[in-house]
Amino acid sequence: MLIKKTKNSDETENNVTDESIFNDRRRIIKGLGFAGMGSLLASSQQAHALSLFGSSDEDSLFKTRELSFSKPEKYQIEEPLTPELKATRYNNFYEFGLGKDDPFENSQSFSTDPWKLVIDGAVENPITLDYDDLYSLFDIEERIYRLRCVEAWSMVIPWVGFSLNKLIAKAKPLSKAKYVSFRTVFSPKQMPGQKSRYVGGGIDYPYREGLRLDEAMHPLSFMAVGVYGKTLPPQNGAPIRLVMPWKYGFKSIKSIVRIELTEDEPKTTWSMLAPNEYGFYANVNPKVSHPRWSQAKERRITSGGLLNRSRIDTQMFNGYDEVASLYSGMDLSKYY
Ligand code: MTE
Repeated sequence: MLIKKTKNSDETENNVTDESIFNDRRRIIKGLGFAGMGSLLASSQQAHALSLFGSSDEDSLFKTRELSFSKPEKYQIEEPLTPELKATRYNNFYEFGLGKDDPFENSQSFSTDPWKLVIDGAVENPITLDYDDLYSLFDIEERIYRLRCVEAWSMVIPWVGFSLNKLIAKAKPLSKAKYVSFRTVFSPKQMPGQKSRYVGGGIDYPYREGLRLDEAMHPLSFMAVGVYGKTLPPQNGAPIRLVMPWKYGFKSIKSIVRIELTEDEPKTTWSMLAPNEYGFYANVNPKVSHPRWSQAKERRITSGGLLNRSRIDTQMFNGYDEVASLYSGMDLSKYY
């Protein structure tokens, strides 16, 4: 069993994610014919060892900058925040590797400026945002959201950004638009997981996600350009990512370059890989188990250390009850 201790936190992978759950996605990736997990884990361990000995010094870190934003009262929740060094070191971003510390280790030279984000498809007014637009087109605000990963761990994170509905409204959806499709940048030169199937698990990149248009227009659906008061670091999805607080974390696609409005339900990365395990909706639901584990409880990643193995009850829609009406009349065990 691999136990990795992260450089700046005392949390181990095994502490926050049950080993069986942690390995599950790797099982799916192996099922695609991917071999070489051993070398991948070895390289991840090696990278980690290097970081412990100081290779990831300040100069080699991606540079973030402070943002100015408002803090609307309704999004400032009482729960203790996950420490920044955990939310920015324990990540899922397979384009940079499958291990939890790979995204940080492998992404610090990722380039985000210039950047283009296109919003097109079934819209009256296709638009393209460049890097500066991401921070200036809309007033930005801080929202503290719970993030619940399908692997049964969760965090409490202060994102900075704007409502997705503002962006979509600007593009003026046509009446035939029913869904919204999202794509991550395709940049094998910068993303070792897209270049090598040994690093990225042989997923059919670019990573894709999708929402129903009414879900995307819900005020909670959020485009983050920052976290912990600063621009996003690459491991968290720089320069712009989706944050869907009532859905499992894999819906919250990172480093987005295209948002396309469509008439049909778009294909999404995880539901293509394992449709019986990862659905299009992926709403957090303690009553609908993953085929191999219960979703009734979760391990909250807080400031606790190695002995913090306590679990809390998972809440329906991750506690965001205001979205329930989007799904009235739907059997959520069928539309998981
Ligand atoms: N987006 C891309 N492009 N690639 C990924 O591998 N992983 C997803 C999601 N967005 C992923 C992604 C998963 S599984 C989770 S849980 C969240 O990002 C994790 O976000 P965080 O690392 O900022 O906590």
